[in-house]
Amino acid sequence: MADVKLIIGANWGDEGKGKVDAYFSKEADLVIRATGGANAGHTVYYNNTSGETVKMALHLVPGGIVYNYTMCLIGQGVALDMEVLQEELKMLSDNYIFDPKSRVKISGTCNVVMPYHKDLDRLHESLKSKKIGTTGKGIGPAYSDNRLRTGLLVYDLLLSEQELASKIAVAIKAHNELFKAFNMSECVVDPNELATIYHSYGKFLKDNNMVVNGHEFVKKYLDNPLAKIVVEGAQSTRLSIENGDYPNCTSSDSNTLGTLSGAHLSHKDVTEVINVNKAYFTRVGNGPFPTEYVSHINSQGELTSYEKQEAFEGDILREIGKEYGATTGRPRRTGAFDAVLAKNSAEISGADYLCITRLDTLGEYGLEHGSVQICTEYKYEGKNISYYPDNMEFTHETPTPNYITFDGGWKIDSENMKTFDSLPFKARLFIKIIEETTGVPVKYIGTGPNNCDLIVRDI
Ligand code: GDP
Ligand code: IMO
Ligand code: MG
Repeated sequence: MADVKLIIGANWGDEGKGKVDAYFSKEADLVIRATGGANAGHTVYYNNTSGETVKMALHLVPGGIVYNYTMCLIGQGVALDMEVLQEELKMLSDNYIFDPKSRVKISGTCNVVMPYHKDLDRLHESLKSKKIGTTGKGIGPAYSDNRLRTGLLVYDLLLSEQELASKIAVAIKAHNELFKAFNMSECVVDPNELATIYHSYGKFLKDNNMVVNGHEFVKKYLDNPLAKIVVEGAQSTRLSIENGDYPNCTSSDSNTLGTLSGAHLSHKDVTEVINVNKAYFTRVGNGPFPTEYVSHINSQGELTSYEKQEAFEGDILREIGKEYGATTGRPRRTGAFDAVLAKNSAEISGADYLCITRLDTLGEYGLEHGSVQICTEYKYEGKNISYYPDNMEFTHETPTPNYITFDGGWKIDSENMKTFDSLPFKARLFIKIIEETTGVPVKYIGTGPNNCDLIVRDI
């Protein structure tokens, strides 16, 4: 059987999955995106033909596309936005990435995000008194239609224009009534107009031979004992609809099990589950964040203006880490590493190993701020606990972290520190505490943004 690595986010997204994926993709035959859609923003680096290192944010196409010999699959669990896909393929070609159209395959059973899903996303957010802070990419409504079985699949785009129009007519019947009721008549959909556009997208996919039977496509690789498959998870454990901070989460199951089925795989196929955590935590959108630092972000998730000397620790961390969303550009909320949460995520996703990214950034923050912290226990409902509560939405209480605090920080020179033993003492101690608290070995350590800035420990 092939080697199958699953890269799963363990916090609230943006842990550096794209970079870790790109590290493994260099050797991979197939890279699969399995959940979410254009709500994801995965940053990867690649060396262009002039030898320059270029940064790229990808939303749908797996990061492995930057390597010439890697095949990429957008699996059945993805909510596919055809407009974003076309823009992304163009952006890749403009950046001289080798023949993306022939190396990106799409499962015919992928759920399609339609323009009206974005209008519905906006409408549903506006009706909520406590907003989720969605990315506005139409992801929730697209998955809802899929569950109602009125969603469109990629295979629908290959039908005749008439057949597609009649499917769209059924899909939008109730939505059109909703748009009218909420004075959004500009959003009312004409099924024939939309069918013309989406039929032409279907033609594009057909002409480029992009649509595949996902199961059969993956099986060819799985059956080859020499093949290497990487599954690039999107979102994270805490953002998953299944085990995440409901309702402050996304609408697909971004844990191991959802990622597997979205990638046309079974649990028996997996060689290694890697839970990616940041050395400090971040979150965009609303929801609990026990170790959040105070910063100038208001309850709407907006950054309020402040002078440098008034910066709180959350602002210092956000500026040092340049923590702004790769999809929406929103400022990310920032806070300390939460080993209680990391342990819970590892249990949920069955992690074999942890990856801790941005150890370099945390060290710099420590040098600037004077200390770094790691949460090893919570105080919640009057008790000390070492698990992540599932009822915060109902108790209206966010756990108070108990921290281990280190004075100062550290400097990591990623060029010259390629082994665990070469890291500064405090950085190693930080990793050891994570291992002790979570009970899971930290095999991978991110020391910089480039794909090669990853220490792989021999454990
Ligand atoms: P993803 O959504 O999990 O793929 O993560 P994002 O790409 O949204 O955000 C992660 C950010 O951290 C990106 O800007 C990455 O380039 C950056 N990054 C990832 N790993 C490291 C690391 O080890 N060190 C540093 N300095 N940056 C990193
Ligand atoms: P990657 O793959 C960070 C968050 C949104 C919002 C909530 C619901 O880059 O880690 P949605 O648009 O999915 O209905 O929004 O989920 N969210 C993410 N946050 N990284 C992501 O993806 C995210 N995908 C969704 O901010 O709080
Ligand atoms: Mg991201």
